[in-house]
Amino acid sequence: MEYLVNQTRIMFIRGDITAQDTEAIVNAANSSLLGGGGVDGAIHRAGGPQILAACKKIRATKGLCHPGEAVITTGGNLPADHVIHTVGPIWRGGNHGEPDLLSSAYRNSLALARENGLRSISFPSISTGAYRYPKEKAALIAVGVISAFAAANGKPEEIRMVLFSDQDLQVYIAAWKKIAL
Ligand code: APR
Repeated sequence: MEYLVNQTRIMFIRGDITAQDTEAIVNAANSSLLGGGGVDGAIHRAGGPQILAACKKIRATKGLCHPGEAVITTGGNLPADHVIHTVGPIWRGGNHGEPDLLSSAYRNSLALARENGLRSISFPSISTGAYRYPKEKAALIAVGVISAFAAANGKPEEIRMVLFSDQDLQVYIAAWKKIAL
């Protein structure tokens, strides 16, 4: 499914984030930036050691990447030129600032893409795996931040939400339709 907001094409697809040829892909990282499972493991495996080396340099200068923050590295061997590593919140019931932190993770990733003049970016479903954020709630936050950013900035040219299953894809499309109407 594809929608247009201002100058931005917003696409919802089923796929593997590591295979996306957007200028940046977003990693669902943890604060250590030293890798993990899920999206994090897949990106480091596919992108190769240059990504971890770049993450270690960031750790050495900036320390931990706190929930809601985002940093950018090379994409290594990936089709994408860059990886934007962001840390989503761990779901603790919804009353520990999780919605704001998840919004910040999407918003700061988009801001970093803008600062680097990137024309396209792909997101996974941040925080909805190991961090157990309920998918429907996470999807409403993601589509809200993405549409507001595109409406306010007229860029990037393309934002992809890349879902790992048909079920997740339907959840995000339903969330979009809920906020876009
Ligand atoms: N491409 C796209 N989506 C994927 C992929 C992939 N290759 N692999 C997993 N996913 C989906 C999962 O199905 C889930 O819906 O990404 C979503 C996020 O899942 P996680 O990767 O577990 O990320 P998150 O919930 O944010 O947890 C982050 O897990 O891997 C560790 O180091 C990471 O500690 C951090 C935590």
